[in-house]
Amino acid sequence: MSLLAKFDRYPLTFGPTPIEHLPRLSAAIGGKVQIYAKRDDCNSGLAMGGNKLRKLEYIVPDAIASGADTLVSIGGVQSNHTRLVAATAAKLGMKCVVIQEKWVPHYDAVYDRVGNILMTRLMGADSRLVDAGFDIGIRKSWEDAIRSVKDSGGKPYPIPAGASVHKFGGLGYIGFAEEVARQEAELGIAFDYIIVCVVTGSTLAGTIVGFAAQNRAQRVVGIDASGTPEQTRAQVRQIVDNTAALVGLGRAIRDDEIIINPDYAYPAYGVPSEETNAAIRLAARMEAMITDPVYEGKSMQGMIDLARKGYFPEGSRVLYAHLGGAPAINGYSYYYKDAEPAAGEHVASAPLFP
Ligand SMILES: Cc1ncc(COP(=O)(O)O)c(C=O)c1O
Repeated sequence: MSLLAKFDRYPLTFGPTPIEHLPRLSAAIGGKVQIYAKRDDCNSGLAMGGNKLRKLEYIVPDAIASGADTLVSIGGVQSNHTRLVAATAAKLGMKCVVIQEKWVPHYDAVYDRVGNILMTRLMGADSRLVDAGFDIGIRKSWEDAIRSVKDSGGKPYPIPAGASVHKFGGLGYIGFAEEVARQEAELGIAFDYIIVCVVTGSTLAGTIVGFAAQNRAQRVVGIDASGTPEQTRAQVRQIVDNTAALVGLGRAIRDDEIIINPDYAYPAYGVPSEETNAAIRLAARMEAMITDPVYEGKSMQGMIDLARKGYFPEGSRVLYAHLGGAPAINGYSYYYKDAEPAAGEHVASAPLFP
């Protein structure tokens, strides 16, 4: 029986996402483990989809019931989350205000015009640029935006960064864990590890609660992309506890069931390292699977490095959660303008290019 049976869900996605075997990537990183991807990046026709839609499916019924007319949220300039809140508002016929803070020390002439923010504007959201740095917590700029909607006679529905500390933010990825179990039964295989990128926390937290119900949360490996892993871990802990209680998991989740590897977020949130870019190129060249420099490129880098170091025992099946995010790559064109790594961008882990 699903842990989600008692919750309303407003469909924003196509349904279960495909699981794809990645044999060329598996071979390129040594062939000792088999890599699969669960393609949540292809989960919807709404503005190119991504992980936020799984979360928003459980938040929208509450937004509608509240009588709100405006969704109000927050993220960075190239936020996938604000794109998908804007998409949800457009689909529901609501208005949308999104605060876009300067979370990333990345300078590209078109960074605030292409990719996610372009689509956000295209869908009619009121996108407000704010000059504040990275922080996954509750922000004054967001509270000001909520107040501004009220002041102009509207009825706001607040959605925090990444929909993470929302009371229903962790539910969507419980659904992911239950879906994986059903697909394993259909495919006749079981995954030994699940790789999940983590920043604001509810994707990983929901995944952990979902797999804890299957007694295998310790096989979920969070790869931090925030660069502030203590704050991210504290937020994951809080969402895990709230979500486990909300769904009636029936037991507390232990600290050793929350695994977050902090080793791949360098040099900063939103800034790819040379190794991140090598991982992005490898996934693209082996499997035509596009990952981005902010999120999935870092979890791809982490998975590749862990596989090459022997973290996963030989013969393991590793499921990479592809959570979306490719539109942001347009804001990073300079890194990728040459077919080979740009001069000066030496590839520290040369064996990535077999
Ligand atoms: C593409 C992508 N991957 C991973 C994440 C991380 O998810 P979360 O913020 O729930 O930790 C996000 C959002 O922050 C994202 O947009």
